[in-house]
Amino acid sequence: MTAPVIRDAGPADRDDWLRLWQGYLEFYGTALDDAVTAMTWNRIIDPVSAVFTRLALVDDTVAGFATCILHPRTWAVEPACYLEDLFVDPARRGSGIGRALIDDLIAIGRRDGWTNLYWHTNADNAQARRLYDSYNKADGFVRYRLPLQK
Ligand SMILES: CC(C)(COP(=O)(O)OP(=O)(O)OC[C@H]1O[C@@H](n2cnc3c(N)ncnc32)[C@H](O)[C@@H]1OP(=O)(O)O)[C@@H](O)C(=O)NCCC(=O)NCCS
Repeated sequence: MTAPVIRDAGPADRDDWLRLWQGYLEFYGTALDDAVTAMTWNRIIDPVSAVFTRLALVDDTVAGFATCILHPRTWAVEPACYLEDLFVDPARRGSGIGRALIDDLIAIGRRDGWTNLYWHTNADNAQARRLYDSYNKADGFVRYRLPLQK
């Protein structure tokens, strides 16, 4: 397979992103209000927002995305990058697209001086963890999460 082209998502990518986004929500067995999806997309394409998305294209077709939030830290002057959503078209998995998306973020982070790139995953997401374990060991932190809305 030719190496994917990785680039920022822009306004013209909405329909391609939406197709993958719906697949991502299905993967997690969830659904979101259309208003939430619309807001997320607007944040992605807003250059002032801390949310950004990198798209992976294979043969000019959008095949995966990584959506991140760049945020300030209390322990460093430079920001850290939280990789919130990573998804590859099921028909394209296992061909290096997920790795290319993470490698791209690492390259941007090194260039721009982020202190680190980090993410969470379910402990039993074996396919994702095979990829993640090739970068580093999980750091042992345990997440506590308190739902605050009924
Ligand atoms: C996790 C995910 C993004 C990986 O994307 P991908 O493009 O399939 O990953 P890659 O092809 O870059 O695979 C990287 C590694 O993962 C492993 N891997 C991925 N798919 C595999 C498969 N079908 N069979 C065996 N190993 C596989 C391999 O170890 C591979 O290592 P290699 O690069 O040395 O060959 C993709 O599986 C996905 O979208 N999953 C559903 C959503 C999800 O779980 N997102 C992450 C939530 S935190």
